[in-house]
Amino acid sequence: MTWLITGGAGYIGAHVVAETQKSGRNVVILDDLSTGLESRVPDSATLVNIAITDQKAVRKLFADHEIHGVLHLAARKQVGESIERPDYYWSENVHGLQVLLDAMSEANVRKLVFSSSAAVYGQPEITGDAMITETTTCKPINPYGATKLVGEWYAQAKTVSDGMSVAALRYFNVAGAGRPEFGDVFTFNLVPLIFDAITHDRAPRIYGDNYPTPDGTCIRDYIHVQDLAEAHVAAMDLVDSRDASFEAINIGTGRGSSVREVIDMVIDVTGLTITPEIIERRIGDPAALVADVSKARATLDWTSRYDLHDIVDSAWKAWQLKG
Ligand SMILES: NC(=O)c1ccc[n+]([C@@H]2O[C@H](COP(=O)([O-])OP(=O)(O)OC[C@H]3O[C@@H](n4cnc5c(N)ncnc54)[C@H](O)[C@@H]3O)[C@@H](O)[C@H]2O)c1
Repeated sequence: MTWLITGGAGYIGAHVVAETQKSGRNVVILDDLSTGLESRVPDSATLVNIAITDQKAVRKLFADHEIHGVLHLAARKQVGESIERPDYYWSENVHGLQVLLDAMSEANVRKLVFSSSAAVYGQPEITGDAMITETTTCKPINPYGATKLVGEWYAQAKTVSDGMSVAALRYFNVAGAGRPEFGDVFTFNLVPLIFDAITHDRAPRIYGDNYPTPDGTCIRDYIHVQDLAEAHVAAMDLVDSRDASFEAINIGTGRGSSVREVIDMVIDVTGLTITPEIIERRIGDPAALVADVSKARATLDWTSRYDLHDIVDSAWKAWQLKG
């Protein structure tokens, strides 16, 4: 059985490709290599190097390969860039999905796992230690989050019109590496940002230490990319077992770590002396964002296995390989 993995040459995609193959499924990858790396694509998978927005090429891909289902990861993911270039984000993330869904309908492919994001929640109004559930109001605060929420709505509409079965996985903060060569090569997220700072002899930055959290710094839910990849296999099983169904599912650990705790873990793992610089809060940073993962447990029979030490340790090994 062949699954199409869009964005399979990317950071998360490479891990998902490996786990999908391990589960016995055949893989075709659609990737334009804009942020992905060909070196992450295994010889055992077919790479189709096209843009997701190229309707003719995407339709041809479905005509050339017998695709059973799709894991759709190909997208732009930088919040700041999405604020500067909303048209580009709507074109890549929303029109790209439109081209894909259209080609799926034409080819009668009805199974979809969609890479969504905790960004759909925006700044949720939660108090104290409350966690974010899938019924927490979705109110994205940037174009990136909006494209993910619209993507969910669009895919959900296809469950009614075409009988598609869809799982939208709302990833929380993805970090770590399942293999050193699959590490995140960009510096947009906290762990690589800390590594980048210490590698260049700069102090890592903490944006505000006066939040209503135990140590004053923001709390997020860091999920190991290997755990996340395994959740995709469970999601493929879920969409395979259902017809005309939509589920949005939080993928996190259910545990929060503060920025200071992450920096302390980097100190622990690297053995380096690190003194962070405290600067102004960033606009739109909620104090704490932690996933309630009970739905993932119930619907996917999946829970995370790795902790913050595993995440930082594996990410550091991958970072060193980067050179
Ligand atoms: N990394 C995170 O923390 C995080 C959190 C939440 C959601 N996500 C989502 O997970 C998915 C994968 O993210 P990632 O971190 O692996 O990013 P990434 O940039 O490493 O991977 C994206 C992949 O998609 C490909 N791609 C992008 N636009 C394309 C297009 N128009 N046509 C064809 N291929 C295209 C890129 O070449 C790359 O290989 C994205 O949908 C992202 O929004 C990521």
